Amino acid sequence: MVYSADRNSAADDAAGTSTQVFEAQKRRLESDGYLYLEDLPEDFDHLAFAQRFGTLMPQYDGEIVWSIKADPKFDDHYHSLNTKKLNPHTECYEFEGTPPRYLALWCVHPASCGGGLTTLADGYRFIEQLSDSDRRYVSEKRFPYCSSSGIQASNLGRVAEHPMYDTSSQDRPIVRYSFNCMQRDGDARMEEIAQRFKQFFHDTCVGIEWKKNAFLIWDNFRILHSRTAYKDRARELRRVWLS
Ligand SMILES: [Fe+2]
Repeated sequence: MVYSADRNSAADDAAGTSTQVFEAQKRRLESDGYLYLEDLPEDFDHLAFAQRFGTLMPQYDGEIVWSIKADPKFDDHYHSLNTKKLNPHTECYEFEGTPPRYLALWCVHPASCGGGLTTLADGYRFIEQLSDSDRRYVSEKRFPYCSSSGIQASNLGRVAEHPMYDTSSQDRPIVRYSFNCMQRDGDARMEEIAQRFKQFFHDTCVGIEWKKNAFLIWDNFRILHSRTAYKDRARELRRVWLS
């Protein structure tokens, strides 16, 4: 794992209030697949800034902003709302239709324990490395995807069927992946590809060590994300989805 996310200090620019700065940030998001900004002004409006990249979409519970803070009631589930590590995934793989194009997070309270990093890796790069035959397989064969157990425990679960590499429904491919929640029982070929994808993530991911008030956005059609475990239960991030 490589903990070396590039930092793009925006303190002097009030994070893209000028068109020129914002255009450069968009280009960076396009080329790297993600954009991380820290040293933002204290009164920075993360929600307003996120909306410069797309239109807000409701979260599982219908709210626009999802608070990511450990809740003891989810300690025994696989869920973003506890302190355990998460396996790599894209967001909303289990939704019918198009998942959010971008996912944005900002940091209300960083973990003081050194854990709780958000980790990111490039799904398009993995797909490029597949053989033609495997690439065709993951773009044609459809699999059921289900919500994580924590979401199901809140009665917000969904199920949908998709190929892992969807090249037909949008102007650019959509990677849908969840090591945990992609149902591939009995499919040895897909199991092997899913394992390799997980290893690729581990080998190539960058880790975002959150600073208070920092902002992160990534292309959810392309980038897989995950989280390392942490101990500090005061850690809090906020999340929005953008179409
Ligand atoms: Fe996620």
